[in-house]
Amino acid sequence: MEIKVKAGDILATKSDAAILALFEGEKPSGMLAKADKALGGAISRAIEQGEFSGKADETLMFRDGKAFPGGPDRLLVVGLGKKGKFSPDNMRRAAGVSATALRALNLREITASLPDGAGGLDATGSARLWAEGALLGLYTFDRFKAPDPKKKELKRLTLLAGRDDEPSAKKGAEAGRKIAEAVCVARDMINTPANEMTPTVMAGYAKNIAREHKLKLKVLEKDDCEKLGMGAYLGVASGSVQPPKFIILEYRGGKSGASPTVIVGKGITFDSGGISIKPSEGMEKMKYDMAGGAAVLGAMQAVAALKLPVNLVAIVPATENLPSGSALKPGDVVRAMNGKTIEIISTDAEGRLVLSDALCYAQKYKPRAVIDIATLTGACVIALGDLAIGMMGNNDGLISEVRAAGEASSERVWELPMWDEYLERMKGDVTDLKNVGGRQAATVTAGKFLQEFVGDMTWVHLDIAGTAWEEKNRPYIPKGARGTGVRLIVEYLMAI
Ligand code: BES
Ligand code: MN
Ligand code: ZN
Repeated sequence: MEIKVKAGDILATKSDAAILALFEGEKPSGMLAKADKALGGAISRAIEQGEFSGKADETLMFRDGKAFPGGPDRLLVVGLGKKGKFSPDNMRRAAGVSATALRALNLREITASLPDGAGGLDATGSARLWAEGALLGLYTFDRFKAPDPKKKELKRLTLLAGRDDEPSAKKGAEAGRKIAEAVCVARDMINTPANEMTPTVMAGYAKNIAREHKLKLKVLEKDDCEKLGMGAYLGVASGSVQPPKFIILEYRGGKSGASPTVIVGKGITFDSGGISIKPSEGMEKMKYDMAGGAAVLGAMQAVAALKLPVNLVAIVPATENLPSGSALKPGDVVRAMNGKTIEIISTDAEGRLVLSDALCYAQKYKPRAVIDIATLTGACVIALGDLAIGMMGNNDGLISEVRAAGEASSERVWELPMWDEYLERMKGDVTDLKNVGGRQAATVTAGKFLQEFVGDMTWVHLDIAGTAWEEKNRPYIPKGARGTGVRLIVEYLMAI
């Protein structure tokens, strides 16, 4: 769908439908008051009779082709929730529900008027949120369905702005589009089944991003990783016939010589559990165990498209975790790149193994900060459900910056403790570490394990096991891969 920004009167601009937003409990004012009058007071009556109140995600449709001569054939009023409780996410949600509702009617051209005065947002911010919400809500993953000749697709969304706001709204809509497109690339990668989303294919995605935005790409092959001593990563890879790919993308938009931010994403393209095999029920979902990797590649695409003034390195240790005659076994000992030895208690705790070598590798960049993101523990799903990303780290400044980015992007994070006592559970009997520390606080012990490989880097770890996949269908998040982390990381990098 194309997004345009234009100055003008929405009620005098031809379209299949116009979208106007209303805060909960408010009477129609401004453009809505005009529309209400043209509809003979139908909007006010609907509000008085309790058919519509402006709650977030609520919609009400009016169809009267003659009400707006030369303007829209229909009017969709969408709720923004209470003005006093406004969060930027209400705007994304309104954009998402209204776009999907109008697509369902098989319309082509729609317009929307950006509500002003919402939560102190300027025209750039509103247009960005609206574009994000609409494009993310309209996302579909249908490449494995028979082609539908009657497929419903919106052609164009025109955002109507005031004359003075037009240039800033254009900028906002453009940024929103770039961010949403990057989230959708991540969603595509994650939704794609593991037989098609192999480590090699993931590296291919990185190559496309590198080509499109002239980034530096390095893909370390198995031999390269052996030379570097990445025994933990290669241990996981040893069970698969798919060659592992250790993917590195570098973007330089900041001062030359300024140390980069490094983002590391878990890239397990399928997690069967390995020899410690998972129950078969629900195992198909483990194609999303590369969601962290997809998030860092998506974030890299967005940052490069937005030309943010930062230096950024994305690292994805990609491999499958499968059982075979050459796979890791419980009791095996591997040695990570920093020399630490690890006894494998469960081959299903593979994420921390691939990340340990990736974090060691990140140290080469002397980064100003490192953020790793991973579908790391089932325990995080139990602790925080699908509403919050689990966060651990070693620097309060970075932790609060990531928390703020979480609020702004509505990819919220919740901090878990990192007390040293938790590390005791991860100490090995015959090795420096073991890869499982028991059932208690399993999200935290996984974080403590990772900390053994961050050296003196400023670091945050994000566990997205509970937040990477959508089960229900939400206003701008259809069922399936959410693309979690792309918006969070981009927001963080926009704010530094
Ligand atoms: N990829 C899983 C974690 C996961 C679970 C992600 C559910 C998404 C949904 C990870 O590799 C894993 O298997 N973790 C184990 C670790 C355990 C063996 C210490 C877990 O959490 O059960
Ligand atoms: Mn696992
Ligand atoms: Zn896993």
